[in-house]
Amino acid sequence: MIILSGIQSSGRVHLGNYYGAIRQFVEFQSEEVALYFIANLHALNSVRNADLMRELTHDVALSYLSLGLDPARAILFRQSDVIEHVELFWILGSVVPLADLTNAHSYKDKVARGQSPDFGLLAYPILMAADILIYNSHVVPVGKDQRQHLELARDWASKFNRAYVSGYKPDDPEGLRGGVPGVLRLPEARILEQTAVVPGTDGQKMSKTYDNTIELFASDKAVKKAIMGIKTDSTPVEAPKPIDDSALYGLLKLMAAPGDFAEIDRRWRAGGEGYGVFKKELLDLFHATFDAARARHAELSRDPGAVEQVLMDGAGRARVLAQETMARVRRTVGV
Ligand code: ADP
Ligand code: TRP
Repeated sequence: MIILSGIQSSGRVHLGNYYGAIRQFVEFQSEEVALYFIANLHALNSVRNADLMRELTHDVALSYLSLGLDPARAILFRQSDVIEHVELFWILGSVVPLADLTNAHSYKDKVARGQSPDFGLLAYPILMAADILIYNSHVVPVGKDQRQHLELARDWASKFNRAYVSGYKPDDPEGLRGGVPGVLRLPEARILEQTAVVPGTDGQKMSKTYDNTIELFASDKAVKKAIMGIKTDSTPVEAPKPIDDSALYGLLKLMAAPGDFAEIDRRWRAGGEGYGVFKKELLDLFHATFDAARARHAELSRDPGAVEQVLMDGAGRARVLAQETMARVRRTVGV
């Protein structure tokens, strides 16, 4: 099984990214082939400063390595180092109906929120489809917001196969029932819903866009400030605390071991303790969970050359696979 996912280098890694994505990526790395790349070409739509781009790209790689991604098992690389992605982007683009792009939710949402409707933003799903199809990926673990992008990737792969492969049957894409197999494999999305949305410090979804994140590799002081600053209501110390919409309760539930959480839950409902006590517990849980990764992060930060080496090795391995597909695709389209 070939597993692939991309991570945009558009910000620093936070708790939502870990529980919503990274944790599962680390679990999937024991699959036959696991490819994870830093989608820096995609991030160009939002990061427009070269130094920041380099720094964030490096930081995402460092974060993944610190959190357990093992480069001996998974292939970790930068998208821009495997330039074949861009070649497939163009060839695939020749079969993409413009309306698929102008109707895409993510494009419409971003433009509605004030992002400028640039070509890069519009064409984003084609590059993402190329990222996936170039490795013959079977499974792509992504968050719910990416579901439509995966559907588009399947539609366009199918359209490409119909256009170029005679004898291809759309209902038998692998050619298992007498049809001719497609040149591009139709990928399956694995939607990561196990972890409900991780709440941010203000109670909305944790997201760098809302400036409500708890960053995994911030300084001790900054982590403490973020956790102590979690928004709570004015329930008095002695009263039982409300559960609905409480970011603090949600984060405790996420981070505590299920056995320990039962006791926290009992105390929360009983009243008699202020929110400050629970915030300290969350801070302790944060450190208990992430201090080992934080130490690795600090260690790797002192050796940028080692991270660069991992990315270059990863790109070399990925490129061999990408070039195989591109040779087939070029032959198929006659260029
Ligand atoms: P952000 O919202 O901070 O911009 P991204 O969109 O870059 O984060 O998300 C990267 C990955 O992390 C995606 O797979 C996404 O589903 C996951 N993720 C981000 N925020 C959360 C959250 N609050 N809860 C669960 N998963 C999240
Ligand atoms: N669009 C994805 C996100 O914002 C990142 C991404 C780019 C990706 N290319 C991909 C994810 C290919 C999976 C497969 O999270």
